[in-house]
Amino acid sequence: MSMTAARSITGVLTKPLVGPSILSADFASLGDECQAVVDAGADLLHLDVMDGHFVPNLTMGPALCSSLRQRLPETLLDVHLMVTNPLGCVEPFAAAGADHITFHIEAEDDPETVINAIHSAGMTAGIAINPPTEWTAIEPYLGSVELALVMSVNPGFSGQSFIQEVLMKTAALRERLSDDQRLQMDGGVNLETADACREAGCDLLVAASAIFGTTDYGPVISSLRGS
Ligand code: DX5
Ligand code: ZN
Repeated sequence: MSMTAARSITGVLTKPLVGPSILSADFASLGDECQAVVDAGADLLHLDVMDGHFVPNLTMGPALCSSLRQRLPETLLDVHLMVTNPLGCVEPFAAAGADHITFHIEAEDDPETVINAIHSAGMTAGIAINPPTEWTAIEPYLGSVELALVMSVNPGFSGQSFIQEVLMKTAALRERLSDDQRLQMDGGVNLETADACREAGCDLLVAASAIFGTTDYGPVISSLRGS
């Protein structure tokens, strides 16, 4: 499946971007909830894939991604892999209609191979760091990816508190990225913390509980965007 301009994370989109993490959606009404956040102005949907090994939670897989692709053919699907074996997930999620895959440096000894596999499958690639990980851990790969992700909670669950200490390395990363590379923040992003994320240079904010914990998604998405 080829990507439309609207389905590229590096395309011309209104920045900063806001990506609801569907981890806090009502899974019994997932299609309707995803349609509603897209209609309310979400730029993409963020799918948190957890394997019960890299993180202590089990969430969603390619079948769910495929169902969302059928339901929302124009929506950019951003897959955040929190798994021990990211390479094994690349082809299944490509076949399921994902547009973008981010994996964790902490999970992978051979990041270049994973990045190449993601690109070969026709997707954009991102690399993530957990709160304790220095930004320099991903420095060698910044020239090869379209996105860097700074986790502002220890991954595993939505609804955790934002870890302020990550803002310094976020700003350092922004200085090393070009304008067409995204800098994403994920974890504890809400109406209180979003300004600091944007000030540190993030142009893609992910939020689960701050968005799905409300009933009127539009104003929250606008506020997270800073407008
Ligand atoms: C954390 C996930 C996040 C999480 C965010 O393990 O990667 O995407 O769902 O949830 P909130 O926005 O509620 O912190
Ligand atoms: Zn995530």
